[in-house]
Amino acid sequence: MGLYPDPCTLSPEIEMDEYLIALENELRALVASPDSAYAAYYGIFRYHLGWTDAQFVEVKCDTGKRLRPLLCLLSCEASCGDWRRALPVAAALELAHNFSLIHDDIEDNSDERRGRVAVWKVWGLAHGLNAGDGMFVLARLALDRLCERGFDDAKCTAISRVFDEATLALCQGQFLDLGFETRIDVTTDEYLQMIGGKTAALIAASTRIGAMLATDDAHIVAAFARFGENIGRAFQITDDILGIWGDPSVTGKSAATDILTKKKSLPALIGLNDPQNGAALRALYSQNALSPNDVARVLALLDHARAREHAQRYADEFRAAALSALDATGIKNRALERLREMAEAMTKRAR
Ligand code: IPE
Ligand code: IPE
Ligand code: MG
Ligand code: MG
Repeated sequence: MGLYPDPCTLSPEIEMDEYLIALENELRALVASPDSAYAAYYGIFRYHLGWTDAQFVEVKCDTGKRLRPLLCLLSCEASCGDWRRALPVAAALELAHNFSLIHDDIEDNSDERRGRVAVWKVWGLAHGLNAGDGMFVLARLALDRLCERGFDDAKCTAISRVFDEATLALCQGQFLDLGFETRIDVTTDEYLQMIGGKTAALIAASTRIGAMLATDDAHIVAAFARFGENIGRAFQITDDILGIWGDPSVTGKSAATDILTKKKSLPALIGLNDPQNGAALRALYSQNALSPNDVARVLALLDHARAREHAQRYADEFRAAALSALDATGIKNRALERLREMAEAMTKRAR
């Protein structure tokens, strides 16, 4: 539509590193133990966030890609807002994401996260649950810092609501994901609803809130939300593909878990519904447990069904929808270009 005010006061050559350093400072300020009695509890957070080893010694580890905060900061800047004022939300989004990962590894029986032993495998199930809970509350507290950055109460309340609805949608999506493990008749629509909750909701909240912090223009905010919803789905489909065919030494996650837990990831769904290979796959997925031989057989059947290529096509379509939502904003600036680059990177990745 091309109506968006231009030029806006952007720092044209801002490097991603600047966002990441500022985010890291915001996160470190939030994840600080208030009392030495809780040092080991906060140590679990710091381990999971990639700052320490399991003995709580500072090390440089994989911190994750920090995609949600970057999407939020860039969406804010693209909409002509000051990204620095968006840092509390960016940190809140990353903490909420990390809460979901700590619990997700328990829910999925996954031993590995970001190339290291998952929290619940180091400290046990009870501490894993309690660490995830604490991380979620830290995310809510991070969000409270927004009001200290000069946003009015109405804006803070509206953002808080988007954030809470997204984290609830995430939990609802996880509920569907877990329920699908014991079914072989999951439809594509059900799958899309499930990933819309477990993954796309928080990503859409990141881009929506980023825009909300910069503008009250409902059309712009809706377009950024649409961008997030679509790139979030494309991102999860890419994750599904990597979950089966990715290199565990690059993804930092085990390659067999999705098949062993009978996840109805998109490639699995495509295989289960394939006219030639579906019946054999349905028989395998109807067993109580899959042996290593069964996993090899599932992989061969998915290859015959060309499940990877078909799933990739879905991811490409959602990425195209995401990019056209960005076009619909009519915005042309460097931050928007970076969002385009991120959309490509999120769906053409090895990690
Ligand atoms: C992993 O998310 C879980 C999904 C929603 C697919 P990321 O791939 O963003 O995880 P990190 O933070 O980079 O490890
Ligand atoms: C992604 O879960 C969504 C959340 C963690 C909420 P997955 O189970 O698909 O992601 P990975 O592959 O374990 O990271
Ligand atoms: Mg999961
Ligand atoms: Mg998982």
